Formats: sequence, structure tokens, C-alpha cells
Amino acid sequence: MAPFEKLAVVGAGTMGSQIALQTAYSGLYEIVLIDSSPEQLVKAREQNEKLVWRGVEKGRLTADRAQTALDRIQPATDLEALSGAGMVIEAVFEDLGAKQGVWRQLNLHAPPEAVLASNSSTIAISRLAEQTDRPEQCCNMHFFHPVTVMELCEVVRGPRTADQTVDTAVEFVRSIGRVPVVMNKEIHGFIVNRILFAAAEEALHLLEEGYASAEDIDVAVKKGLNWPMGPFELLDFSGLDIFYGAREDRRKLEGGPGAPTVLKEMVERGELGRKTGRGFHDYARG
Ligand SMILES: NC(=O)c1ccc[n+]([C@@H]2O[C@H](COP(=O)([O-])OP(=O)(O)OC[C@H]3O[C@@H](n4cnc5c(N)ncnc54)[C@H](O)[C@@H]3O)[C@@H](O)[C@H]2O)c1
Repeated sequence: MAPFEKLAVVGAGTMGSQIALQTAYSGLYEIVLIDSSPEQLVKAREQNEKLVWRGVEKGRLTADRAQTALDRIQPATDLEALSGAGMVIEAVFEDLGAKQGVWRQLNLHAPPEAVLASNSSTIAISRLAEQTDRPEQCCNMHFFHPVTVMELCEVVRGPRTADQTVDTAVEFVRSIGRVPVVMNKEIHGFIVNRILFAAAEEALHLLEEGYASAEDIDVAVKKGLNWPMGPFELLDFSGLDIFYGAREDRRKLEGGPGAPTVLKEMVERGELGRKTGRGFHDYARG
């Protein structure tokens, strides 16, 4: 059931800490959570404690299981802790240069047989695998936020990824209670973000050309397509700056028109969505 015994997660931010926690819930793995910042490791532990005890309060898990899950995650600041890992999931912030530097280090410190995966939302695995001498053991494993709620993980094969690597990734994702989908070829943004981008672009076009308001476009999509959130609510939720940055990256790779003016101006004004209290909708008023 478990394809290896020890998982290492590198980067203990929003995603890394939750990938570690979801893995810990399975009870199947030894887990090491590595971050260059000791303060971040403390924060990750506190955030995970909040999550598990809320789960206990709501009756979703027992106090015993909560404590066992938390105790399974060993914090570390040094890549020596990769020793014995069958898989390494990299979850450092979304910056190609920074990630490539980390991947060169992973190649030096991870056991030779370990699968190396990146949780990047957009960066195709070949750009990281090329930093290693084992590209056949590398793939994307794109979990979604919050990992303990969102079931999907996109497993993406690079041009040199071996079948065995994809099989191990799929088996691991299933073993921690998440749902894998496999992309046979890599592409910027993978499946979900490409479809989300397409919807967001059309929504922005309709808004910018004055066909309908953001409110009515969201209502139309929710009531007509049965989406739980409209495209503008989703943009506000993930952050307009994040969407804008990913859109620019994709444009550099694939070409296409510049960002819609409405989006650019909102990013320049710092209206980034929920996190700033204002985006396409106003959150300051609740
Ligand atoms: N946040 C999301 O909603 C989300 C969703 C899906 C995927 N992702 C992807 O997951 C990845 C991580 O995103 P995040 O939001 O968790 O980032 P984050 O900024 O919350 O955390 C990144 C962590 O990496 C650590 N770090 C940086 N350099 C390091 C190094 N050399 N060694 C060890 N640790 C290092 C930082 O200290 C920080 O704790 C990104 O690639 C992002 O695209 C994010």
C-alpha cells in the first residue's frame, strides 16, 4: 500500500506543511518537514496543530489520532534529513531560479533511488529535472490548497520521466487519501489552472467590454454551471497578483495578448482580492 517508508517535504510554508499533515493522517509514513527557516518550522507546527484540533472539535478525528499525526512530522533545517527518503516533495515558493538552486541541492543530498517531485503550480518538471542527474525519477505533484480538504493531485510526466516514477507518485497520492490524475505530457499550468485561466480570461473580457458586472458574471457561472464560486470570486480567493504573475509567465512561454487593463490596474492599485480586503468584490464590508 505504501510504495516507500519515508517522505521528505522541502519548504514548510502553506503547502509543504499541509502535504506533511495529510501524509501523517495516513499513518503509513515517516515524515521529515524541512525548511531553511527555523521560525517557519515553528509556524508550520502551530498551523498544523490548529488544523488538527479543529478537526477533533468537529468530531472528524480522535484526539489520539490528531496527536499521533502531529508527532509523525519531524522538523529539520538541514538537507541531511533527506537520508532514507523514498520520495522528496519540493514546496518552496514559486520562483524558478530559487527552485532550480534547491533542486541542485536535492540531487546532491537525496538518496539515489528517491523520486523527486515539485508541488509547483505552473513550472513544468523538465525545468527542474534538468538540474539533476536523474530526470527519469522526477515529476510534478501538484496538490491544491488546502491540501487537507482538496482531494486532487495532478501528477505530471516530463519528457524523460520513467513509468515507475509516475506509478510511485500515483500510488503515494492514493495512499494518503487524495485523488491523482496523470498528465502524459507537461504544459505550463497543467489541467486545472489552464481551464481556470480560460474561464478567467473570458470573464475579464466580458467585464472589460461592459457586457455584465463582476457580480452578475459570478452569479451566472454559479447558477448556470453549478460552480461553487464564480470566476471573480476565485480570482479574489487566490490573489490577483498570483494570477497576473502566472499569466505573464505563460505569455513569455506561449505568447498571446497582454493582461486585460482592468486586471493590470487593480494589481497596480494593490487591490489583490481577499487578502487586501478588496478585489473584484469588497471584503472590508464583510
Ligand atoms: N499557496 C497555494 O495556494 C498553492 C497551491 C498549490 C501549489 N502551490 C505551490 O506550492 C509551492 C509552495 O507554495 P507556498 O504557498 O506553500 O509557499 P510559501 O511561501 O508559503 O512557503 C515556501 C517555503 O519555502 C521555504 N524555503 C525557501 N527556500 C528554501 C530552501 N532553500 N530550503 C528549504 N526551504 C526553503 C520558505 O522558508 C517557506 O517556508 C509553490 O511552488 C506554489 O506554486 C501553492
